[in-house]
Amino acid sequence: MLALDQVDAYYGKARALEQVSVAIAAGEIVCLVGRNGAGKTTILRTLMGLLPCARGRRMLDGVDVTALRPHQISLGGVAYVPEDRQVFPNLTVDENLAIAGVAHRTGYWTRTRIYELFPLLQEREQSKGLSLSGGEQQMLAIARAVMTNPRILMLDEPCEGLAPLIVRDVRDAIVAINRRGVAVLLVEQKIAIPLQIGNRIYVIDHGKVGWQGRTEDFRRERVAIEQRLTV
Ligand SMILES: Nc1ncnc2c1ncn2[C@@H]1O[C@H](COP(=O)(O)OP(=O)(O)OP(=O)(O)O)[C@@H](O)[C@H]1O
Ligand SMILES: [Mg+2]
Repeated sequence: MLALDQVDAYYGKARALEQVSVAIAAGEIVCLVGRNGAGKTTILRTLMGLLPCARGRRMLDGVDVTALRPHQISLGGVAYVPEDRQVFPNLTVDENLAIAGVAHRTGYWTRTRIYELFPLLQEREQSKGLSLSGGEQQMLAIARAVMTNPRILMLDEPCEGLAPLIVRDVRDAIVAINRRGVAVLLVEQKIAIPLQIGNRIYVIDHGKVGWQGRTEDFRRERVAIEQRLTV
């Protein structure tokens, strides 16, 4: 559905991605792993159209969308939750969700279903964004993205800095969202969660794809991969 094909991307004169090809197909959970500064966030930003492809192409449903703007990619059914969990601090949880659902695709995901997915958010329905814990903010950021009824959900380190019990809730929510037909592209610095829920894994290394394959192959080849790359 969504792909980069042999893409180079730059910040100013510094090349951040070199000949990167990644693809997400319908129904998949695909994970990007790799050390600090490897280029994982840059791949999400480039897929979303926030960063131009200096070389190569961005594809959506087999169509070249290299020239499209982020809002056009978004209308194509791609949602992106950046690492800094953007929620409106002065709006309640309920208002944050109401706004996210406006002017987007209608579909399975409604506020009621979001609250079934994240019961913790329902308990905090009338609380302002700024009063939420880190875990609740992350859930709300994911919930806002899901309210747009995306076909593809891109998440940048959603479990970073969260307590283990909350990590489990977020992980289970990602799986539940995927089971409803949403393809997921998940960035994680560490390999633990990708090993649990990923169908496929890309190891990003110095702006390139260092390894890619099915999760079961990663498991089998793990020692060799980790000798060559930092995972
Ligand atoms: N806004 C920016 N301006 C200039 N260089 C940047 C910018 N953002 C990232 N970079 C550089 O691009 C490279 C890739 O960064 P990126 O944020 O994609 O890595 P990452 O894999 O997401 O790392 P992390 O795990 O720390 O989030 C790094 O060398 C980084 O320093
Ligand atoms: Mg990052």
